[in-house]
Amino acid sequence: PIPVIIDCDTGIDDALALLFAVRHPGLDLRAVTCVAGNTDVDGVVRNTLTVLEQAGAPAVPVARGAERPLIEAVRTARHVHGRDGMGDLGLPAPTRTAVDVDAVTLLRREILASPRPVTLVPTAPLTNIALLLRTHPEVTRNIERIVFMGGAVATGNATPVAEFNVWHDPEAAAVLLTAGVPMTMYGLDVFQQVVVPGADVTRLRGSTEPGARLAGELLAHRGPATDETEPGGGLGDAGAVCAVADPAGLTTELLPVEVALAPGPTRGQTIVDRRARPGESEIHEGGREQTLVDVALGVDVERYVKLYLAAVEGP
Ligand code: BDR
Ligand code: CA
Repeated sequence: PIPVIIDCDTGIDDALALLFAVRHPGLDLRAVTCVAGNTDVDGVVRNTLTVLEQAGAPAVPVARGAERPLIEAVRTARHVHGRDGMGDLGLPAPTRTAVDVDAVTLLRREILASPRPVTLVPTAPLTNIALLLRTHPEVTRNIERIVFMGGAVATGNATPVAEFNVWHDPEAAAVLLTAGVPMTMYGLDVFQQVVVPGADVTRLRGSTEPGARLAGELLAHRGPATDETEPGGGLGDAGAVCAVADPAGLTTELLPVEVALAPGPTRGQTIVDRRARPGESEIHEGGREQTLVDVALGVDVERYVKLYLAAVEGP
């Protein structure tokens, strides 16, 4: 299996991502690190521990990370994810606590200890990842790829042009984008497309197996308003983990990506250069480092929905 570490802000759809990573036989979830985002970092830790327990993976190490972005203040998304950051579903409190090292330390340790290069999957503001890359740059030698949920080619969600994870900590995203490791951007353009049909959500909610039932409850909470009698639910961050298990389900293009850092209405926007021939001189303008990123432009929705359900429901 592919060694995977998820850095998240659980979060309804982060929880869906954790459930999938635990249950897909081709993935080996080695650690989970938490960062402030959808809710405060202590809430994220609690939600993450609870989800892993419900998913039947109570031993995966979980670490607490940054409680605020590098420069910005915390700006949670409780209006989307509920007061507890996870849909206020009344889930039980976890029976264990986070490990006694911080997220950056756990990330370094697990990445360097892995016998095979690790795929890192950030599904949250990139604060922990930026701190890791600046504190322990040697980790890049054992990172296979970073598949991150963040950014948008077209329209934003936190602002008209900026996606929440990048907008919450734009400087951290800029550090990630110059890391010089292979990277996939699973942005809003594909994130918003992958929706589980209502009938499947209803079946999951009726499951007697706690992990599958939790997936159903989370999906029902996320459901976009549709005119179906049984509304479906978006996979959200879980789609980024599907992209690790089954990269062929995405259509990507290797493109230059930059984050707008200036104050004002564009702050946090990911600027993806899709011109046919961006001049070399422009890409390296002012000696700026810039990594080309595999940007997801299309997704096989049915394929990822099937993949998700098969993993979460089991045989
Ligand atoms: C991202 O923002 C968060 O609210 C979600 O968990 C997802 O990671 C989408 O913009
Ligand atoms: Ca998230």
